[in-house]
Amino acid sequence: EGQNVITLQQVDSTNEYLKKELSKSRPLTEGTVILAVHQFAGRGQQGATWFSEPGRNLTFSLLLMPTFLNPKHQFRLTVAISLAIARWLEQLLSVGVKIKWPNDIYVGDRKIGGVLIENILKGKAWKSAIVGIGINVNQTDFPAAIRRRITSIKDYLREDSDIGELLTALCRSIEREYLALKQGQTEAQLASYKQRLYRLGERHPFLVSGVKVDGILLDITETGRLQIDFGGHVADFDIKEVAFVI
Ligand code: BTN
Repeated sequence: EGQNVITLQQVDSTNEYLKKELSKSRPLTEGTVILAVHQFAGRGQQGATWFSEPGRNLTFSLLLMPTFLNPKHQFRLTVAISLAIARWLEQLLSVGVKIKWPNDIYVGDRKIGGVLIENILKGKAWKSAIVGIGINVNQTDFPAAIRRRITSIKDYLREDSDIGELLTALCRSIEREYLALKQGQTEAQLASYKQRLYRLGERHPFLVSGVKVDGILLDITETGRLQIDFGGHVADFDIKEVAFVI
């Protein structure tokens, strides 16, 4: 993968761009990467905005066609991608990397990157998956209000990194995990994902239907729901139903 990289100097969102290209029924091959130098309307999860200083970070979308995966097992793709990013960063930075459910990438208590996967289904079958990835690379200037919760590769390496080289290495890591997923190594990947799960087994405040409640993050279910123990009462949630209070 990543052999087919299309670099755009300026684009609203690489996810949107890829989606539009696909709707023109362009025959794009699996593994196509859309890399943005300046992404000016980047999107995050839950309708959030993804801000990135022009030319300083990794903002790209990767086209996958995981037809081997039952759409009800979509979470397995989330696991494979998050794990690939975590493993690549651990090697690069020589630090432990955490995955904040479902797919925020953390170093310590700070977010270094995020993933936005958009699955395109045709009825009950896969058409494609647009895997959007944003990693903070050379940016060290962030809005004061969020600075203590954000980090970048430069915070650790203390020098600028080459975006193209990082992209190549990250795509190699993604290819490895994607092939493992294809070969059915789901259990092992889920175990490695859980090993890195941010706040696993810890008491933490969560926002549930607008109410702040303390709970212990117990586990992740098969389908990727977050399981929390509220003092003996165990419940599980999807991303729209629960948030970490930070
Ligand atoms: C999140 O943490 O909420 C997910 C952020 C995902 C950002 C990436 S940057 C490349 C791709 N294009 C987008 O518009 N978003 C993703």
